[in-house]
Amino acid sequence: MEAGKINNRRTEWFENARFGLFIHWGLYAIPARGEWVRSFEEISNDEYQKYFDEFTPVFFDPVSWAKAAKNAGMKYAVLTAKHHDGFCLFDSALTDYKSTNTKAGRDIVREFLDAFRSEGLKVGLYYSLLDWHHDDYPAYGDPFHPMRNNKAYKDKPYNFEKYLDYLHGQVSELCTNYGKIDIMWFDFSYGEMSGEKWRATKLVEMVRSLQPGIILDNRLEGSGEGHGSITTSNPSFYAGDFACPEQFIPAEGITDENGNPIPWEACVTMNNNWGYCASDKAFKSPKLIIRKLVECVSKNGNLLLNVGPDANGEFPAESVYILEQIGKWMKYNSKSIYNCGKAEYPKPEWGYFTQDGKFLYAHIFDGNIGALPVKGINGKVKKARLLADGSEIKLLNAWNTRAYPDYAFINFGPNESHTYPLPYEIDTVVEFELE
Ligand code: GLC
Repeated sequence: MEAGKINNRRTEWFENARFGLFIHWGLYAIPARGEWVRSFEEISNDEYQKYFDEFTPVFFDPVSWAKAAKNAGMKYAVLTAKHHDGFCLFDSALTDYKSTNTKAGRDIVREFLDAFRSEGLKVGLYYSLLDWHHDDYPAYGDPFHPMRNNKAYKDKPYNFEKYLDYLHGQVSELCTNYGKIDIMWFDFSYGEMSGEKWRATKLVEMVRSLQPGIILDNRLEGSGEGHGSITTSNPSFYAGDFACPEQFIPAEGITDENGNPIPWEACVTMNNNWGYCASDKAFKSPKLIIRKLVECVSKNGNLLLNVGPDANGEFPAESVYILEQIGKWMKYNSKSIYNCGKAEYPKPEWGYFTQDGKFLYAHIFDGNIGALPVKGINGKVKKARLLADGSEIKLLNAWNTRAYPDYAFINFGPNESHTYPLPYEIDTVVEFELE
């Protein structure tokens, strides 16, 4: 296996892409207290209806969304076609509870797909297995349903088989009526509600027959809490093509139980909510996000970074700023992200390595006293360049480093043994072309 590459059929483009945009959008943008508002506040269908009646995203412009993602260096995007509240952002024939029936009057999924495909991004759809609006989804006693404590629901009959027909029918619509879909992102399994409870074999057979190239997440059995059988030596038919740790980057990346790397994608919010939350201003800095993207890639993983558009259909200003700042770094440094993965050298003290074949990238986060040591590559370097401007980085032989022949040494100023600030505070990337 070439360093930085896992050879896995369907997921090859995905592992080369490394960076994508998650979009959580729906009626919950109006109450603006996150996408779980119905569950947290135990809001009934009737009380929630006012948001459906009101939904008018006057500034919804998927082309500007797509441009923002593209300029940030993202290669794919995943939109919530339906979240747990059951509201559909697409023109499903199986429900009236859809964006085309609101004042917006638009098939948001279709417009999203058209806009992002035009910018050259791959496209994915998130589909919630849970549905808090459908009459045949278990309510009373379910751990999450908004009516879980409502006695009036206690003896209310429901027919889960009918819900499953609906779920399968909608997934079939998404896979049939909207052209090529690159990712289907199911969410999520819990307790008994897992695997064949969703008729998962049939569902995956259907999805793969309608969309032969599609890749699937692992949440027909998993969730943020567990990976399901994708990490075992005997994954089920519906184990999925990649694992998706949530709000967390695993210390060593993700491998199966035999130590073979498996594709994975950390999904992460910019603040602490997926859906728009007006009071949540705890946004991560662009610096932190860039460094975490590098960390994911250094562990053979992807980063799916979320934005929650507001009720008007716009990305929050903070999210726009973050995407722009990431874009500035990606413009010059994306060679160290795309097509890259875990390096053949161990993690250095001052940051991370990523690698694409004979190109080894040193992501330097912390400056050094004197020359900076790069372990393992001494005598193997054909040339070294600062990625941001293409300038030559000389390999040094300072008087005070000669006792350390295992290391190559570099510096960022004229004197080999002096101490200089790093040229780029967020992440100074040096490309080593190895022999
Ligand atoms: C979850 C949450 C959710 C979010 C998702 C993203 O499981 O239920 O609201 O959509 O994770 O990973």
